[in-house]
Amino acid sequence: MCGIVGIVGDYDARNYLINGLKSLEYRGYDSAGISVMSGKEIMTYRVVGRVNLLETKIPSLINVNLGIGHTRWATHGEPSFNNCHPHKSNHGLFTIVHNGVIENFHEIKNELIQKGYTFYSETDTEVIANVLEDEYGSTNDVLSAINGCLKRLHGSLAIAIIFKNFNDKLFFAKRKSPLLIGVGETTHYLASDALPMIKYAKKFIDLTDNQYGFISKNEVKIFQDGIKQRAKYTTRNAELLNTDLNGFPHYMIKEIEEIPSCISRLVDNYVNNGSYCFNKEMIETLRKSKCISFIACGTSYHASLIGKNYLESIGKTSNVYIASEWAYFPKFLDENEVFILVSQSGETADVITCLKILNQTHTHPSITITNTKGSTLERDATYSALLYAGVEIAVASTKAYNAQVALLYLLKSAIINDTNAPFKLLDTNNLLTDIIKRKESFKEIAEKIKNAHHAFFLGRGLDYCVALEGSLKLKEISYIHSEAFPGGELKHGPIALIEENTPVFGFITNKRISQAMRGNFSEITARKGTIYSFVTKENAIDNDTFVIENYDSELIVLATVMITQYLAYYAALLRGNDIDKPRNLAKSVTVE
Ligand code: M6R
Repeated sequence: MCGIVGIVGDYDARNYLINGLKSLEYRGYDSAGISVMSGKEIMTYRVVGRVNLLETKIPSLINVNLGIGHTRWATHGEPSFNNCHPHKSNHGLFTIVHNGVIENFHEIKNELIQKGYTFYSETDTEVIANVLEDEYGSTNDVLSAINGCLKRLHGSLAIAIIFKNFNDKLFFAKRKSPLLIGVGETTHYLASDALPMIKYAKKFIDLTDNQYGFISKNEVKIFQDGIKQRAKYTTRNAELLNTDLNGFPHYMIKEIEEIPSCISRLVDNYVNNGSYCFNKEMIETLRKSKCISFIACGTSYHASLIGKNYLESIGKTSNVYIASEWAYFPKFLDENEVFILVSQSGETADVITCLKILNQTHTHPSITITNTKGSTLERDATYSALLYAGVEIAVASTKAYNAQVALLYLLKSAIINDTNAPFKLLDTNNLLTDIIKRKESFKEIAEKIKNAHHAFFLGRGLDYCVALEGSLKLKEISYIHSEAFPGGELKHGPIALIEENTPVFGFITNKRISQAMRGNFSEITARKGTIYSFVTKENAIDNDTFVIENYDSELIVLATVMITQYLAYYAALLRGNDIDKPRNLAKSVTVE
């Protein structure tokens, strides 16, 4: 969702802001803008559309060293020129960009209107700019104004602020939405994540909730409720933040084909000389707990379903909750229940809300599984385990899902100290490489289904978990309406939707359910639906669409899900869709 960049110092602000916004495009957005300060003048450029368009509006020769930029994913008000950020306060004292949602903005907006303020947009951001001005009116001090603003406003905000009278300081505040400071030699940076800053900053400061302050060419000052805070520096691995396409036409296909290297990297990070090197206390906590529950959204939720199966196979009780549901109806099934929060971005607002609820209990330990070092979920959980999958740019998650499943497999194996498991996991790469080699088959299938209005995915057991993920992937990027069902549920309703040529993707990777699934396939063909069957050798019959080598029933999901990722990719490609930036979606869902 919305992305923020900011800069002050010696480095060319235009270059950083434009390139920075480009590197945040993957988060999802509909409009973009920047404000830069030259002398005492603040110049603002805004567009509805892409950063490339914004770039054409900004004079190439401007020489500025302080500025802020924003990509907006509309929440309050449609994508329009007036709603684009940056927004300025009525008397032009404050110009700001914002990521988050102000919950009491109607109330505060009315208060400000009573005081004579006028609003030119539908955004909650313009309210923040005017609250800052209002607070400044009574304190005459920018930092006190920001602190006052944080107290008056409820909800989430990461803001970068230009104050009209200072052309050497860039102000900021953070609550719930992500914001990082990048420390360069004679320049300081702000951004929603480390990507825009990785080429310039040597170290980073991950701001925590309710911190505010300013950066200048040579200093960083952080405060919380009027009290100066010590900056905690962190670093990032530039290799994991590499965004080169390396010759691939889209990030999605590049990321699918990185899956084998992600698996090898995971094993490298968590297994040393045949022994697991997870945090010992974390593994002990998992061992002691009878009940381990997952909380996640979207693709991470689907990976958690596989995790639940893994944990049940070693005798644990396990549940999986959708974060936005658990947040409103929290359930605790056991006094020693441990919660695993799975999130690629580590910044998903719904999951963060759940973590806050958990942290308030002081009794239930939390473990975050995330791909994003320094993210809120990583920092605020009792324990965390990184995915080391490398930055995922395509909005549709692929390699992160596989890394989540692989990490969950390693975790359950570490709990029972199964030292053979890492080798089995590494061996899976042969199967995955074989799938990659045969990707043209998935393009041929996509060609046949590309004009379908509806598609269905069927499976049982772990194949059903894969079906759910495959269906989500297809709808996300091809915009073909798609649903997934357990094979047995078909005749309890969904079969009513099967018409002539309706594509149904069916999976059989387990002998136990082979016959039952074949029954389901017959029910579909009897209604003239078209079955595309993906089956293991031992379950194959003539005319199956795609046959996979027999493989470990827990790990084969890593291969079958890859098939669904390719199917979605090629269907979207053939339909001419924007694969890496599908409509309406955001990579990092930072609002509830
Ligand atoms: O960053 P997270 O894993 O917490 O994100 C959760 C979902 O928003 C995400 O998986 C979403 O479903 C993706 N677009 C899936 O491709």
